[in-house]
Amino acid sequence: MTHWPEDVGILACEVYIPYLFVEQEKLETFDGVKGKYTIGLGQKRMGFCGDQEDINSLCLTVVQNLMDKQNIDPKDVGRMEVGTETIIDHSKSVKTVLMQLFEESGNTNIEGVDTTNACYGGTSALFNAVNWIESSSWDGRLAIVVIADIGVYAAGNARCTGGGGAIALVLGPNAPIVFDRGLKATHMMHAYDFYKPKLASEYPIVDSQLSVKSYLSALDKCYQAYGSKFSKFSGQENLFSLDCIDYMVFHTPYCKLIEKSIGRCMLNDFMNAGNNNTLMPQYSLLEKYRDFTLDKTFDDPLVFKEIERTSVQCSKSIYEAKTKPSTLLATNIGNMYTASLYGSLVSLLISMNSNDLIKKRVVLFSYGSGLASSMFSVTLCPNEKLLPKFHALIDSLKNIRVMLDCRKEVEPKKFVEILEIREKYHNACNYEPSCSSGDLFPGSFFLKRVDEKYRRYYGRNEVLMNGKEH
Ligand SMILES: CC(C)(COP(=O)(O)OP(=O)(O)OC[C@H]1O[C@@H](n2cnc3c(N)ncnc32)[C@H](O)[C@@H]1OP(=O)(O)O)[C@@H](O)C(=O)NCCC(=O)NCCS
Repeated sequence: MTHWPEDVGILACEVYIPYLFVEQEKLETFDGVKGKYTIGLGQKRMGFCGDQEDINSLCLTVVQNLMDKQNIDPKDVGRMEVGTETIIDHSKSVKTVLMQLFEESGNTNIEGVDTTNACYGGTSALFNAVNWIESSSWDGRLAIVVIADIGVYAAGNARCTGGGGAIALVLGPNAPIVFDRGLKATHMMHAYDFYKPKLASEYPIVDSQLSVKSYLSALDKCYQAYGSKFSKFSGQENLFSLDCIDYMVFHTPYCKLIEKSIGRCMLNDFMNAGNNNTLMPQYSLLEKYRDFTLDKTFDDPLVFKEIERTSVQCSKSIYEAKTKPSTLLATNIGNMYTASLYGSLVSLLISMNSNDLIKKRVVLFSYGSGLASSMFSVTLCPNEKLLPKFHALIDSLKNIRVMLDCRKEVEPKKFVEILEIREKYHNACNYEPSCSSGDLFPGSFFLKRVDEKYRRYYGRNEVLMNGKEH
């Protein structure tokens, strides 16, 4: 190869969501905190999985559905990465389980294994795959990135921010969603905001307020660093602001945090603008915080809340236009962990008129506790010849709205019981799940049993084709 492949990016995408959900309004009543989950956190519904699903079954489902729908020849795949923090085996990767789907084709020549760091593992897997395509290792074949999690919390204040799901992305050159080369910023450091040291449990230990602070402070760092790169690339020193971005999508643990995140970006813009900001009416309410630095805003919790409220107020119209359309999956499913950010991108694609997306830049903010974070961007359909592929990609995602509407509601009491079953039998052997495989979408893989040597066996529900089961 004499030059880099052109327009490296997302060629196709498949989404899998849990079939069961609980209404947040009912859950907050059940938990005795009426208004908190819906008004306070901005959530409508939370998807969750019974014990017939695990991370392997979710990934098997999304990859098989992708290959079937997109008619991908298994031999055309040269790399497959999995990003997840849902660990059921401390050695064997989910990727190796997925190799079962390639057995019949005889293709075992597929690089990549799993990548883990809280909700960031999917982004790291994605970067690995893009780097592979742009490297001397690339052999011309496709990369698949599988990003999936089951997000569950112990009973308590964080439980309402659970969720789950899986997204598979096909990457290659001449793609209708192109990664902006060189426009990437990363911030990583040590923090105990959310972590999973109890290896026998699915539940994390969470320092709620630290997790929010860590998220927003990582956003500051990435936004500043992405902004400087953007200014250098476009040759306009110091001019970067939300105005330069068409859409902005986030890792979304709950939707209220995303409104606050856009407010935070505007606060960054205000501070970057320095003395010139007096000329800009959108910043007038922020004027009284002129002497603050970004870090100093965190010092006093009351002042922090006040600045936050003001920033959200100032940036409301920007949030509505540039970010709100990306919250469809997050508000209806909850936190899909690694898949959350990519669920936001997909939500944007299916919520907007496609004409309003063409040639537009979308900035993505990825955050995983612990902590690892990056900001990067994609350009949607940058040239005319990619239009048919772009429309095909969006059309292939339209079934998601149908899936959201076809789910089965479970009452809060039953939801708690199902989580107790997951908790009790997490990593059990000699075990057959008690939740029904009927409580899954057609075409879903499910866990049939775990034998005495902890080996897991899976079945698959009938696939629906043209409305009929086959
Ligand atoms: C999301 C999370 C941090 C909330 O923490 P919490 O201490 O339970 O919640 P808070 O007391 O801060 O309340 C959250 C919001 O709901 C509001 N609220 C609380 N009770 C309410 C009620 N009855 N009606 C309406 N709003 C209510 C609060 O005022 C607050 O809003 P504000 O932040 O805009 O002021 C917690 O669920 C959690 O730790 N989740 C997992 C980790 C996570 O998602 N972290 C995010 C970054 S990765």
